[in-house]
Amino acid sequence: MFVLYIITLDWFWTVLLFTLTFYLTYSFSKDQEKRQLMPPGPKPWPVIGNLPHIVGQDLHIALLKLSKNFGKMFWLKLAGEEVLVVNNMDAAVACFVRQGKIFSGRPKKSKSVDVMLGDGLDIVMNDLSPELKFHRKIVHSFLASQTNSGKDRLERILLREADSFQETLRNLHQNKTCFDPKFHVARVVANVLSQCILNHRFDDVDEEFHEQLRIVQDIVDNIESFNIVDIFPWLEHLPIPSWRRYLKSLEKKDRWIFNVIQKHRESPAESGHKDLVDLMLEHQKAAIEKNDTKQTNLLKDTNIGHIVHELFGGGIESTTMSILWFILYLIRHPEWQDKIYEEIQTNLHHGTDTKNDLPSAFDRGSFPILEATIKETLRNACVLPIGFPHRNTQETELNGYYIPADSMVIMNIWAIHHDEEEWEDPYSFKPERFLDPDRRTRFSYLPFGIGHRVCLGSAIAKMSIFLFCACLVSKYKFTVPDGEGLPDPTPNAGLSNRPKPFSIKLIER
Ligand code: HEM
Repeated sequence: MFVLYIITLDWFWTVLLFTLTFYLTYSFSKDQEKRQLMPPGPKPWPVIGNLPHIVGQDLHIALLKLSKNFGKMFWLKLAGEEVLVVNNMDAAVACFVRQGKIFSGRPKKSKSVDVMLGDGLDIVMNDLSPELKFHRKIVHSFLASQTNSGKDRLERILLREADSFQETLRNLHQNKTCFDPKFHVARVVANVLSQCILNHRFDDVDEEFHEQLRIVQDIVDNIESFNIVDIFPWLEHLPIPSWRRYLKSLEKKDRWIFNVIQKHRESPAESGHKDLVDLMLEHQKAAIEKNDTKQTNLLKDTNIGHIVHELFGGGIESTTMSILWFILYLIRHPEWQDKIYEEIQTNLHHGTDTKNDLPSAFDRGSFPILEATIKETLRNACVLPIGFPHRNTQETELNGYYIPADSMVIMNIWAIHHDEEEWEDPYSFKPERFLDPDRRTRFSYLPFGIGHRVCLGSAIAKMSIFLFCACLVSKYKFTVPDGEGLPDPTPNAGLSNRPKPFSIKLIER
């Protein structure tokens, strides 16, 4: 009764209206005040924000075009997210190195990621936290041990796969077959990673291998492109085909990886042969024995499974694509095939390892032309053109701008690799850029990211790319099948830049 009485009074409505108007005007002007302090950017539309500024284009290209008008650091509103885009090397250093602790979170998890992780933790999607540091440290020290002190194991794996790749090339050449190199490259890349990390080898391009690739692809596609369920989570209860397929892939992946863990637990490897799963299980056992619940939780099987599979899956795609880009560019620029071949002939016996008639992946420094050609491939093709999005975990000031907390932060690696102020003729393939011995200035170049979230697999990726590219160039000239045009250098872009399918013909040296 009392409430009814109050709201019949005119003065009540007047005060309410006044307070509301005051509150809205105050928050709007506060917002505007803050907006003035934020980096510039194109004016967002109501509701859809800046979607019209990027839709229908490859994201990294659209962002590069916008940077021409709005500068090296600009602001967007996308699907309800506030987004800071970083477009040059100085801004990337300011953000991810000088304020690395603030800018190394990950955006809030989509439904796809939530379902994939369940109650577990991984590395790629986790925020910068003590848990992430703990997991990164284990993986980093394992991979570093493989490429340094314990290098015998990785060397054996690399040589075996180089042998296998050479045999495949020999057979294809003897049968005069022109072929799409994608699966042959993916198999040896996957075999290096999976033997190193989880002691598994795919014998051939067989059904198991294809199934694992399909699973990885399905997971990557869902996370990259947002399933409809990510936008309307209540749809998860309906029979949406793409969502069901995704759940099935997750189920298969979990089954496969838990089998792997179980096998490792039943028969641990001898010292000198231990892989990442062995190492994590050892840490797990030690934590249980010490009664250390915190570490035991961080090392539960679900977490080991997520971390190991993400290294395996994420590493195959990016490394394979890099090798395919190398082949594609060298078909278009055969003079670099000859230069690398001559370098291998001249320097091979100065290297530390001449087994297999191949340069050793542990002696890349003795092959500067091959190294420069790989660097130029990674620069120009830019397989992960916008890396993985970051989030700043608190509000901050960056280069004089106000950056509100919890903004998504995109590092436009493509723009950094094609910055006209830093690179002459940035869209041309010119390995000689990386061969200037007197160069003192820093390159505008970060194919593996920078700062706290820098790629964990860069060393093993560089070794695999080096070795398999050397396998090809040291024995063959490669070109397109008779009558076909040169392969198209424009990528099939998504969140990763993939070359369009192409075939090659081998000519023995
Ligand atoms: C040429 C091949 C590769 C390229 C170009 C590449 C590039 C990148 C980039 C740009 C990032 C994002 C950095 C950021 O968030 O700021 C990244 C992260 C990562 N990469 Fe790679 N990568 C490659 C190969 C690999 C391999 C072989 C592995 C596994 C052995 C791997 C494991 C990871 C992991 C675990 C992360 C996430 C790190 C984190 O979130 O803390 N990558 N990579």
